[in-house]
Amino acid sequence: MQTLNTNLDLKLKRVFVRCDLDVPVENGLVKEAYRLEAALPTLNLLKQAGAKIIIAGHMGKPEGKLVYEFSTKQLLPFFNEKLGEGNFELLENLRFDSREETNDENYARELASKADIYVNESFATSHREHASIVGVPKYLPHFAGLQFAKEVENLSKVLKNPEKPFIAIIGGAKLESKKPVVSKFLQIADFVLLGQKLGLDWREPVPQNLVLPIDYNDQQWDIGPITAAKYAQIISTAKTIVWCGPMGVFEEPEHSMGTKAIGEAVVNSGAFSVAGGGNTVDALDRFGFFNKINFVSTGGSAMLEFLVNETLPGLEALNA
Ligand code: 3PG
Repeated sequence: MQTLNTNLDLKLKRVFVRCDLDVPVENGLVKEAYRLEAALPTLNLLKQAGAKIIIAGHMGKPEGKLVYEFSTKQLLPFFNEKLGEGNFELLENLRFDSREETNDENYARELASKADIYVNESFATSHREHASIVGVPKYLPHFAGLQFAKEVENLSKVLKNPEKPFIAIIGGAKLESKKPVVSKFLQIADFVLLGQKLGLDWREPVPQNLVLPIDYNDQQWDIGPITAAKYAQIISTAKTIVWCGPMGVFEEPEHSMGTKAIGEAVVNSGAFSVAGGGNTVDALDRFGFFNKINFVSTGGSAMLEFLVNETLPGLEALNA
């Protein structure tokens, strides 16, 4: 994989930048801009190098139809403010065309014909074999964006070379979707700590390095204080931490204690910390931990899939 850099001749080159535009927008306002902001270093590098920037991506799941609430044009004010009007072109939601998700060759060629260079700055969609992720790079010189490269670097670091003790904290709502990542970390981490729902749903024998909640709060929608204290103690010994998924239904104040306590333990541990997946970013933001974690992934399912498989279709396409 080659990463975009200033040694490349980018002047007047048309650069197709596949971005993560899948952000919540309400009344024209971007509610959670992390993914857009994460693409700005790449877009600014291109702007400074005199490239013609084409921003492309998807929002939501419009299933091949034009659905206004998923129009990427809603993001024009954001990019105008950050990059300056006239310094970029913003394509409409790629998923308004059903050929994006079927990875249609002709669609990939059509998109590629708009540009001279392809950049993948959409780590969060790189688990999808879609035209703009795996098709377009076949036809153009291709590079990883700066954030994409950081994602691969930081997530690979915890998989390949974690300083020990290495602790994985895995929460969220669905055991089924987290099972592969739990199994993976049981092989490489010193301890794997599970959140409330995963703990309640765990039915299998408990390996030595798997730690389940001991108590829960009243309605079982959060881990209880004894579990929070035990987890915090284990976390305080860590040198490397991966955190995917909240400990309980943190959106409701009465069920947020566990997620807050675990977040505090992570940031106070001094360990190298990586977080992401599902609504972890929302939890970090809400409780003020975001800037205290060493690396926050833009990826939800993509981060989890990368942690399990150590690669993604979008990364393979950049390596080809
Ligand atoms: C995400 O939101 O995680 C990515 O944008 C991928 O979206 P998808 O699940 O709709 O493919």
